[in-house]
Amino acid sequence: MANDMLEIKNLDRVFRIGGMIMGHKIKAVDNVSIQMPSDKAWIMSVVGESGSGKTTLARMVLGLLDISDGDITIGGKSVKYHMKHKKEFYRMVQPIFQNPFTAFSMKRTVESYLYETALNLDMAKNKEEAKALITETLQRVGLSYEQVKNKYPNQFSGGELQRISIARALITRPKVIVADEPVAMIDASLRMNIVNIFKNLKEEYGVSFVYITHDLSTAYYVSDYIATMYKGSMIEFGRAREVLEHPGHPYTELLLDSIPKVGDKWTAKDRLRMGDAEDKVIRNAGCKFARRCPYAKDACIQNPPDMVNLEGEHRSLCIKHTDYKAG
Ligand SMILES: Nc1ncnc2c1ncn2[C@@H]1O[C@H](COP(=O)(O)OP(=O)(O)O)[C@@H](O)[C@H]1O
Ligand SMILES: [Mg+2]
Repeated sequence: MANDMLEIKNLDRVFRIGGMIMGHKIKAVDNVSIQMPSDKAWIMSVVGESGSGKTTLARMVLGLLDISDGDITIGGKSVKYHMKHKKEFYRMVQPIFQNPFTAFSMKRTVESYLYETALNLDMAKNKEEAKALITETLQRVGLSYEQVKNKYPNQFSGGELQRISIARALITRPKVIVADEPVAMIDASLRMNIVNIFKNLKEEYGVSFVYITHDLSTAYYVSDYIATMYKGSMIEFGRAREVLEHPGHPYTELLLDSIPKVGDKWTAKDRLRMGDAEDKVIRNAGCKFARRCPYAKDACIQNPPDMVNLEGEHRSLCIKHTDYKAG
């Protein structure tokens, strides 16, 4: 489709670690393809344990990291085009980062960031216009201009500061916000608060979100789509409901087993803890998950799996759907 909002096509990112002779390569993002529509706003959660390539993917979508191979198109134009028209690009696509306390300098008032975004990206012609825009934008995240005025980052809580980060991103009236673990540094009791803002912004203002998280309980709650990453590969993609009710990949099943059940209270102890399973070696043969997979057969260790189309947009990188029926 020519009018996709976000299209990621066979995307690769390789990092070289160490020298040319003794060094090795990591494929942090490995042949990832995703197509997201432009006819309505969506929240796509990207889930997966630490080291699975989520941040690397986000940084490429944001134009902050070079692509090794493949392509990303946003609003029908490729990243190469966007990098030559950065103002236009950053009006359309905005980031929210994990740690609001490092996203803002402690030496600057937070409002200076809001003015900077408004004026540098030509969203306002002068300070007065910028002030009106900032006031209206802060209201969208439940804050007033008076609450923010003349204050420094250390005068806010993590939750408030993350709401200001959202407001800063919203100033450009973006089509897509890429939020990389935006609730990871925030008190568990306030996480739903932040993701509820995403939901409202999607519904009221048509902003789409790439929501990167390993907090599956919030992903469970807000997502329209879920993409699961494992060691750089996108091993499952689909409508959130479909993925949650009928996980198509054994790894997604494993992740879902650790989510608190509906009706449970979300508390700090419920937060999913996943092992840090970084693997520095590129394996050419077999499925990357085979060693941990309860269903793995010889074929899984010998041959790389193909992406299999399931119901609707649901896809899974697992041979169980073609070669044999698991369980
Ligand atoms: N700048 C870098 N140089 C070398 N390796 C990197 C770099 N950034 C990320 N990596 C590696 O790429 C893999 C994916 O990392 P990352 O995208 O940060 O994962 P996640 O965000 O899912 O935790 C990891 O093995 C990580 O060590
Ligand atoms: Mg990360």
